[in-house]
Amino acid sequence: MITPQHVAIIMDGNGRWAERRGQARTAGHRRGVEAVREAVRTAGELGIGYLTLFAFSSENWRRPQQEVNDLMGLLKFFIRRDLAELHQENVRVRVIGDRVSLKPDILALLTEAEELTRNNDGLQLIIAFNYGGRNDIARAAQRLAERVVRGELRAEDIGEQHVNATLDTAGLPDPDLLIRTSGEQRISNFLLWQAAYAEFVFLPCLWPDFDRRAFEEALEIYRCRNRRFGKVANQDVALGS
Ligand code: FPP
Repeated sequence: MITPQHVAIIMDGNGRWAERRGQARTAGHRRGVEAVREAVRTAGELGIGYLTLFAFSSENWRRPQQEVNDLMGLLKFFIRRDLAELHQENVRVRVIGDRVSLKPDILALLTEAEELTRNNDGLQLIIAFNYGGRNDIARAAQRLAERVVRGELRAEDIGEQHVNATLDTAGLPDPDLLIRTSGEQRISNFLLWQAAYAEFVFLPCLWPDFDRRAFEEALEIYRCRNRRFGKVANQDVALGS
């Protein structure tokens, strides 16, 4: 049974989950937080090393102000309520995304979560917050350009390894499996660089309904895939080798 080292999830369908029940979209996001807790627990139990969750995209600011506030509030609620337990469970929390426009209270909480769990060596939970793949790449390009200007790096020497080491995900392995719930089949500006060879699994269930069974179903689909990384099928690069 081959378990992916790094699973990334686009948690989609909270709004529809609520609307189908005649409830406000926020109710869906609230249930979504419970699904997050279950997904983190399951990932730890199944021996997944890295779990990246798309909590708030750099495009989500375009949502109605009230919904943006609710999503910010839920992230704060999650960290305040669950951080001690995550720490106890040896989970290391890491946050990716553009921090520049975040409010000080959110920034402080995210930093606290990272600092507190810095030395944990269990599951790594990566929260993508105010994250956009293009923005990640653009910020990396900016930082590399600054190094060139400072004379630390020559432009002609810049290779993929420099980009890798400059993205928000520096030091993390690329995702092996990218799951999106709610039946939508697109990447929506998530981990654009990092998902180059990820297997994509699209599940019809809405995020609040994503439970251990759904997680295991996605892993089962992943295990049936033949990852070739650009080579041919019998070149000793089958799944996990
Ligand atoms: C997509 O559903 C979901 C989001 C935009 C946010 C996901 C956030 C959470 C699950 C809660 C906070 C996160 C953490 C890590 C505690 P949608 O609103 O786009 O659903 P729809 O497509 O049905 O409208």
